[in-house]
Amino acid sequence: MLDKTGFDLWANGYDESVGLSDTSNTYPFAGYKQILNSIYQGILQTPGAEVLDIGFGTGVLTSRLYQQGCRIWGQDFSRRMIELAQQKMPGAHLYCGDFSQGLVQELTARRYDAIVATYSLHHLTDLQKWEFLRDLLPLLRPGGRIYIGDVAFRTRRELNQCRAVCGERWDEDEIYFVFEELQAHFAQASFTPFSSCSGLIEIPRCL
Ligand SMILES: C[S@@+](CC[C@H](N)C(=O)[O-])C[C@H]1O[C@@H](n2cnc3c(N)ncnc32)[C@H](O)[C@@H]1O
Repeated sequence: MLDKTGFDLWANGYDESVGLSDTSNTYPFAGYKQILNSIYQGILQTPGAEVLDIGFGTGVLTSRLYQQGCRIWGQDFSRRMIELAQQKMPGAHLYCGDFSQGLVQELTARRYDAIVATYSLHHLTDLQKWEFLRDLLPLLRPGGRIYIGDVAFRTRRELNQCRAVCGERWDEDEIYFVFEELQAHFAQASFTPFSSCSGLIEIPRCL
């Protein structure tokens, strides 16, 4: 599993390598652009939305929302990723911190129209995911929602099929979402598949 130094080293070539995997429609980034586009369109339904991006990387998604007038907050632990994202979004409020330890206090003190996590939460165990998501829900404003775009599967069987097809390319260090297992904890969640290995999970705030 990549640590913050690994992500620092990946940062400069990140956009290109993700694009190549997406364009060739291969694991792990098949469907990446479509998922980000779908989240982008969803968030733009709220003009001037206040958005929290967890593990924002180079800011591929949030920099587009920023250009459309959304206000952006975020947390990432890679200094180089933060530098690159801040260049694209000079007015964004970007903090350095390991989300496996939770969010920094500046971020928990606010409320958001949308909380986004794309290709970042698979660094947490499933138990950590459920706990983290439970802590995020109260940070949403009424009508707000969490968007998780990632390598994700509706069932454990589908995950195992993909793993078998990928063979040695499968990253055993990453812990991918299985929607049915998440839904046992978040009954209001929905899942939209975007490729054989990716999907968008949405968790609206209840009430
Ligand atoms: C694969 S990149 C995804 C970037 C971006 N969200 C996207 O969709 O292109 C994962 C990002 O999550 C960050 N990240 C991974 N684990 C983290 C952690 N425990 N705490 C904070 N950031 C983390 C990495 O530094 C990196 O920027």
